Amino acid sequence: MNPLKIGNVIRVESGRVEVLITAKDLNLLHEERTYRVGQLGSYVTIPMDDRTLVGFVTGSGRQDLTVVDLEPQLLMQVQLLGEIQAGRFVRGVNDYPIVGDDVWVAVRGDFEVIFGSFDQLLSGAKHPQSFSLGRFALNTEFEVKVLGSELFAKHLAVVGNSGSGKSCTTAKILQEVLDLPDAQVVLFDLHGEYRRAFADEDGQLNANVTYLGVDDLVLPYWLLKYEEIEAIFVDKSNPLHTTTQISFLRTALLEFKQEAAQELGLIKTLTLDTPIYFSLERFKTYAENLNNARYVLNDDHLAFSQLALRSMDPKEQEKLMRTQRCQFNRGNPEGETSHPLYFGKLLGLIDQIDTKFNDRRYEFLLKPIEHGMNSRFFKDRLQQDCTAGQTSNLMNHLIKLLTGRVQPRSNLTIVDLSGIPFEIVDITVAVLTRLLFDLNFWTPPDQRHPILLVFEEAHNYIPRVESHRSFAKVAVERVAKEGRKYGVSAMVVSQRPSELSETVLAQCNSFVVMRLSNPEDQHYIEKVVGDHFTSLLQMLPILRPGEAFVLGDSVLMPMRTLVEMPSPTPQSGDVDFFRIWSSQAADCNVDAIIAHWQRQDRQSLNRPDEHEEPQEVKEEAKPPQKPPPARPQRASSPAAAGKRPGQPAGPHPAALPAEGMPAGVQAGAAGQPAQTAPPARRSKWLAHPNN
Ligand SMILES: Nc1ncnc2c1ncn2[C@@H]1O[C@H](COP(=O)(O)OP(=O)(O)OP(=O)(O)O)[C@@H](O)[C@H]1O
Ligand SMILES: [Mg+2]
Repeated sequence: MNPLKIGNVIRVESGRVEVLITAKDLNLLHEERTYRVGQLGSYVTIPMDDRTLVGFVTGSGRQDLTVVDLEPQLLMQVQLLGEIQAGRFVRGVNDYPIVGDDVWVAVRGDFEVIFGSFDQLLSGAKHPQSFSLGRFALNTEFEVKVLGSELFAKHLAVVGNSGSGKSCTTAKILQEVLDLPDAQVVLFDLHGEYRRAFADEDGQLNANVTYLGVDDLVLPYWLLKYEEIEAIFVDKSNPLHTTTQISFLRTALLEFKQEAAQELGLIKTLTLDTPIYFSLERFKTYAENLNNARYVLNDDHLAFSQLALRSMDPKEQEKLMRTQRCQFNRGNPEGETSHPLYFGKLLGLIDQIDTKFNDRRYEFLLKPIEHGMNSRFFKDRLQQDCTAGQTSNLMNHLIKLLTGRVQPRSNLTIVDLSGIPFEIVDITVAVLTRLLFDLNFWTPPDQRHPILLVFEEAHNYIPRVESHRSFAKVAVERVAKEGRKYGVSAMVVSQRPSELSETVLAQCNSFVVMRLSNPEDQHYIEKVVGDHFTSLLQMLPILRPGEAFVLGDSVLMPMRTLVEMPSPTPQSGDVDFFRIWSSQAADCNVDAIIAHWQRQDRQSLNRPDEHEEPQEVKEEAKPPQKPPPARPQRASSPAAAGKRPGQPAGPHPAALPAEGMPAGVQAGAAGQPAQTAPPARRSKWLAHPNN
């Protein structure tokens, strides 16, 4: 009898096989290795005439005794995965086994064929097709490789408990991907932990990485859709006033976008959602005026307190209302009547605009020009006296920055969301995701460049519950459903898959499932990956940090994998309480921390070397710009950015002439020095001349 035979098939049900274990010794020694028969997650083979089936043990145990049984029998359940034919492993089975067929334990030689098939599949390719994710947990001699195109073409989910190794796995995957000279990735980093994974030991970012912290990110409010603007500004506390505010918002938005629309020839197609400039300051002024407006009794004239203005043509008066703060006569109420629609009802809206406008954390959104003057990536593209149309073109630069179309070419853009108020993380992710999706949607297929969007801690802004209105959810679900056709791929990373949008998860074709102990999460994942892996998923609570089941078309078969640690690692390490508590306490400058806290400035707190001076000083005199460092070369990275020909580490894109940028957002005409940012002016909102 073959020493590798461990039992016989006793039942076949679609891809599932039940096996009666006949081996006497369940610790089978072969070529100096011990194979534990029936171990969950181990592999078996079923030799047939011209092929050998390969299966995965999903359960084992003793059969329940019946009255006729003399002794309990050992059974195991096997999920068929694929077959080896002519020395090659392929997924899926064409021929099923029959009752009585022998079952063997899969040994090193079988794995050699299986892993070798992967190499054969890739041989002869003109370009890299796969990368190594780590080692096969059952035999670490073998490398687990994943097919890049399959991994990203139909979206990927990395799920696992907190501390199971998701961020390290994500960093590992991205580091591998960035070895490709034209890779394009945008990473939404909720906790600001990824910078370290793409920087050298001194903290200098790699040359092909753009890091957009809140200090450098500019997300002009006019890129928001109407619904998003409504969510930020409309005060929902009084339903009566809410309707009035919404009506004002809709009418005024269309009106205020006219100027840019006219200049850009968009009048016929203008909608509330057209992403073009309007002045928020004027918008607020108009709301304030309408909120206080009074008319002369039985007359179209507005009752301005200044007599000279009161006799102006009503049309001119209306114009004035849109451009400057007006005072109304309040001395003769019986001779005047208040604005029938808006009087006193826009206060909530005005308050919301004011509150957010005075919140430093909202600057990147609500004061884009002023904020951009201090951004390393935008300051050289801005100037004070742009027209409305030119200002609208700030979107062009934002998209170029996100997609790395700058010099030197950037392959990864990390959007650090840690400094952004949590309530607008959703909108920020929504707008950026939409911009990137729409870019590829509008790009002709022959010019389309695939882009990977990575959503860290995705359950926070792509929730499952319908009741919670989430703009990011709508945007990411669109990517999940339609992105494949336009070369936009999503990689969602989450510790609570059961709280993550079902639509997004259901569209994922590849999964890296790490330790997962919550039954709700396990069941949810089970539902998504298919119930034939039910037993496999029961092993999830016992996985070690960094250990994962890799499932999907990108791997030859489901593989328990020891993911290789990325080098360098993200800043996600566990806090070692006892080590810290056992040593001398590090200096903790509470005063400095509170000063940062009060300024809502987490970024410079985390990287004191970059922004040492307090904000007030920084606004007067900006720190000198450091040239970006070259990316450190990794030994296994032949195509690492640092080695790319013809791409010297140069000055930062923002310091270069604004090639291809619309005139309005360039740093001035060619040859002119870039404009220096004026001191921050808290009273002034935007640099648009009309403000
Ligand atoms: N591939 C790996 N090999 C060995 N250890 C690992 C591996 N990946 C992660 N770890 C360990 O697990 C710790 C936590 O990893 P990581 O921060 O990636 O977890 P996480 O799942 O992202 O957690 P969270 O959900 O809290 O962000 C790391 O600090 C490291 O010690
Ligand atoms: Mg993490």
